[in-house]
Amino acid sequence: MNNSTFFFVLLSKLKPKYDPTTFRCYFYNLAPEKMQHTDSEEQIFRVRKLEIADKGKGFIELLQQLSVCDSVSDEEFERRFQELSSLGDDHVIGVIEDEVSGKIVATGSVFIEKKFLRNCGKVGHIEDVVVDSTIRGKQLGKKIINFLTDHARSMGCYKVILDCSLDNKVFYEKCGFKQKEVQMVRYFI
Ligand SMILES: CC(C)(COP(=O)(O)OP(=O)(O)OC[C@H]1O[C@@H](n2cnc3c(N)ncnc32)[C@H](O)[C@@H]1OP(=O)(O)O)[C@@H](O)C(=O)NCCC(=O)NCCS
Repeated sequence: MNNSTFFFVLLSKLKPKYDPTTFRCYFYNLAPEKMQHTDSEEQIFRVRKLEIADKGKGFIELLQQLSVCDSVSDEEFERRFQELSSLGDDHVIGVIEDEVSGKIVATGSVFIEKKFLRNCGKVGHIEDVVVDSTIRGKQLGKKIINFLTDHARSMGCYKVILDCSLDNKVFYEKCGFKQKEVQMVRYFI
């Protein structure tokens, strides 16, 4: 088989698909129902702020992988979304949407606390970080953390902090964090 025949056969097997919304070309596996990614994941997993339509893209189901999160009605979601939006850049929820499946596959939030300490300084608090269990280990957790950390830095915070389990210590170290002090908690429910 000569070179041009080889590339023709290869292309016909990969079935490239053009996505006009992103102006990019993706390659899906031969079985279209599987829709597995074979193109650059950088192009498919875009990080952005939460949008109201994300409830329909599996945002709540993703949070359920992290902790107790009962089903949230559309009205409750919209009310909370508007409440948080009114805080503007002081409360940001980041998400990563899989642009092939249209599902939200990672999320995390950052809250900007305003202090009197440190010359009226600000601290970023990162919370509710989770990556869909089917897609962990692809640097999406790091991507979300970088997004939240960059936001805190751009807001003038002098530090960004978070709590985590010992199991996740190495992950956060790889994101540039270091262990300091001890978390104390008192639950009300
Ligand atoms: C923790 C979590 C967010 C990590 O997301 P992820 O997308 O799998 O992580 P990444 O692929 O971005 O990992 C970045 C690096 O950390 C490492 N890493 C990730 N999780 C790790 C863990 N639990 N222990 C040790 N290393 C870990 C990866 O191997 C990778 O290393 P590399 O850069 O050398 O290749 C994800 O496992 C998760 O959602 N867990 C369940 C929910 C949870 O515990 N959330 C955190 C609440 S504080």
